[in-house]
Amino acid sequence: MDKIIILDFGSQVTQLIGRRVRELNVYCEIHPFNKVPAFDETVRGVILSGSPASVRQENAPVVDLSGIKGKYPLLGICYGAQYLAHHFGGKVEASGSREYGRAMFNVTDTACPLFQGVSTSSQVWMSHGDTITALPEGAEVIGSTSDVVNAAYHIKGEDTYAVQFHPEVFHSKEGPKMLENFVKGVCGCKGDWTADSFISTAIEEIRAKVGEDKVILGLSGGVDSTVAAVLLNKAIGQNLTCIFVDNGLLRKNEFEDVLESYKDMGLNVIGARSGKLFLDALAGISDPEGKRKAIGKTFIDVFNAEAMKIENAKWLAQGTIYPDVIESCSVNGPSAKIKSHHNVGGLPEKMHLKIVEPLRSLFKDEVRRVGRALGIKEELVSRHPFPGPSLGIRILGEITEDKLEILRNADDIFIKSLRSWPCELPAAAEPIRTATNLYDAIWQAGVMLLPVRSVGVMGDERTYEYTVALRAVTSTDGMTADWFPLPYDFMAKVSNDIINKVKGVNRVCYDISSKPPATIEWE
Ligand code: XMP
Repeated sequence: MDKIIILDFGSQVTQLIGRRVRELNVYCEIHPFNKVPAFDETVRGVILSGSPASVRQENAPVVDLSGIKGKYPLLGICYGAQYLAHHFGGKVEASGSREYGRAMFNVTDTACPLFQGVSTSSQVWMSHGDTITALPEGAEVIGSTSDVVNAAYHIKGEDTYAVQFHPEVFHSKEGPKMLENFVKGVCGCKGDWTADSFISTAIEEIRAKVGEDKVILGLSGGVDSTVAAVLLNKAIGQNLTCIFVDNGLLRKNEFEDVLESYKDMGLNVIGARSGKLFLDALAGISDPEGKRKAIGKTFIDVFNAEAMKIENAKWLAQGTIYPDVIESCSVNGPSAKIKSHHNVGGLPEKMHLKIVEPLRSLFKDEVRRVGRALGIKEELVSRHPFPGPSLGIRILGEITEDKLEILRNADDIFIKSLRSWPCELPAAAEPIRTATNLYDAIWQAGVMLLPVRSVGVMGDERTYEYTVALRAVTSTDGMTADWFPLPYDFMAKVSNDIINKVKGVNRVCYDISSKPPATIEWE
């Protein structure tokens, strides 16, 4: 298997470089600039990322390229391009005008391997305050913009290329082709890393790792744990036992529906119906963190009690994916990345379980592609993310069975309406596909039940009932999000349906706040 190494200097879009390379069916790994891995025989080339830093600043990130430059194909992007200039005989200076945004890039060396099949003039995205004023030793310009002469260069006698723009971002129209030319043309990667090849390799690896041992996995109804379960099931069959906990806070019919689908897929699933335990633990608690703690603790108790019944279990499988694993690289002090919490608490130590994480190398959209290749239903594969504490953090304040019933019914109407409303936008979960309905164009959606009641009128009667807020956002990883522009006629229909059909609600609002400063969930 061919591999590309991406060295991360801390740019916000480094993960995008990784995704673009993976879209070419080429495996790649992202490593922080200060932790360059040992290269094995599968490495075919190296990409240097952008950075919020300037090569001219004190403590600018540096990397030892002595084993890389001139020895492996090398592509510097933005900071990467400036880094190669700065350290190898060129010059980088503050740019007179900040070079930011769209620019027209003109190829000046049409024979350059990087630009085969690329238009001689195309839009690119610039984002830097510095500019290369003198090229590194032995370099020649291969492309320019009207403002930036040294927009792209090649070092003669080496497979070293550099571009000051960002080919990985959407606004660089022919950026994907340039990356393809580097990865497949210059580095010679074959592009044979597909969902099917991943599955067969992963199955062999799982078998080699766990052998005849028994494995436990916590299913949540979400994409990652479902794909991990089906993959493990293919590898080790009935030696895998899955536990699916009903915390009483799931969506309408969710426990039954998801359990049924799992059984259809041949999974060995224990469904632990424990709603009452959770509601008892939540009684009287209205503080969001207090609710999270009560739900988290009860989950661990229920999961552990079920897991203990599985004799001779040696492994705990988790649906960890690549964005959870990539070491966040910060060049400006420790980053404030918030880690997702691990639901299974101290179980691995208590039961002496070893961990198996078959999806560790995959991005979310790749998990979905693997899921499809494994034959998992589209409805499960393209599900929105859903928080561990479930509807518990979408009922503001104290949770009661009555409020849960109201929220489940309103949420059901909203989600079903999103699924049935036609729409042709890029699919949020996998931007290389086109959505066919609103649900797929949205990254995450749900309904919040507010702790306020207001006056309304229905027929001849005065009502005094709850307000619900609809939330629908676009995002790539949940760290930032924008509210989604739902069509007016869609909002009108959903509002009407909820108020007419859900007893206890007389008012529907739409949340038009972005994250930051708001969050996706209201608690
Ligand atoms: P916020 O509300 O912080 O949410 O913008 C970002 C993403 O994380 C999910 N979320 C959680 N997931 N346990 C989880 O497993 C939690 O306590 C939790 N809180 C928020 C949220 O649904 C969104 O996808």
